[in-house]
Amino acid sequence: MLMPMVLHSLQFLIILCIYFICLAFAQNEDQFIYNGFHQANLHLEGSAQIYNGLLQLSSMSPNQVGHAFYTLPSKFNTSSSSGLKSSLSFSTNFVFAMVRQFPNIGGYGLTFTISPSKDFSNASAHPLLGLFNFSNDGLATNHILAIELDTHKNDNFGDIDDNHVGIDVNGLQSVEAATAMYFSNKEGRNISLKLTSGDPMHLWIDYDEAEKILNVTLAPTYIPKPNQPLLSKRIDLSQYLLEYMYVGFSASSAISASYYILGWSFNKSGQSQNLDDSKLPPLLQQGKTKENTGLQTKNLVITVILVLVTITGAVYILRRKKYEEIRED
Ligand SMILES: *[C@@H]1O[C@H](CO)[C@@H](O)[C@H](O)[C@H]1NC(C)=O
Ligand SMILES: *[C@@H]1O[C@H](CO)[C@@H](O)[C@H](O)[C@H]1NC(C)=O
Repeated sequence: MLMPMVLHSLQFLIILCIYFICLAFAQNEDQFIYNGFHQANLHLEGSAQIYNGLLQLSSMSPNQVGHAFYTLPSKFNTSSSSGLKSSLSFSTNFVFAMVRQFPNIGGYGLTFTISPSKDFSNASAHPLLGLFNFSNDGLATNHILAIELDTHKNDNFGDIDDNHVGIDVNGLQSVEAATAMYFSNKEGRNISLKLTSGDPMHLWIDYDEAEKILNVTLAPTYIPKPNQPLLSKRIDLSQYLLEYMYVGFSASSAISASYYILGWSFNKSGQSQNLDDSKLPPLLQQGKTKENTGLQTKNLVITVILVLVTITGAVYILRRKKYEEIRED
């Protein structure tokens, strides 16, 4: 009586293991979408943390630097000698919010970064945005592309103001930068934005390998993607990126500034899917957040029960089939 029961549970465990192994392999490092970061595959460092589905890169405490990178590398730049050429094209969009306790102080900025390593323990916080230190800033051996949302004017890096978006290659001296604004399709003109307003904003970054154009587009979350990008830079990324690169975020702040990412979509096989605003975790709305967490727990429990029922059913059918075969023999 005991033996079949032990065998039964063993069989069950093996099937459960296979199920989860398949699930792990099904994850594709070339594309993902996170409407909130409840189940995100991220490597967090420094002040970066996830709570209530929000990715918080830096908090209100002084001198913070945080990193969050997708755990697995993506294939970018394959040398022509190896035959199989992978594409340098990529498309990503994310929703961020920069919250300041006091209107005009605190915080340096945050970046979307493509880097050969996700280890930035040698990088300095201020004013190097957690990406470089004073000895490697600007060096070609960095192989780093970053799109900066820079909220501090630093004359050493030729910053145009304290509210700009820039394209950085291997160092913080931007190769192209523009004051934060978006093109309104409806009004047919540019409208200014304040990065540190605390309001969630949407940033799209698209690189087309064939045209060698890097487009960066900014907008408030309540409008669709503008027809005209804020920055459009002709650049040959094959000169800078390596074969395997990590994608993620860095941020640094001095005092009283919190930087958040609410959702992130990344794609190397096509246009990145737009985030679903209604699914993004709310900022600073505690009541609503609790409700969401409750709902998520309920969903998780239901999912687990469904999976268990399915597996048990499958095992039962398989066993019956086997039994019938034996009986026929
Ligand atoms: C700067 O960063 C580089 C790369 O991570 C590291 O090799 C170097 O030791 C760092 N230099 C200083 C002075 O921290
Ligand atoms: C990536 O692009 C492909 C092809 O356009 C599309 O089918 C897929 O849904 C996209 N995935 C994400 C996460 O954006």
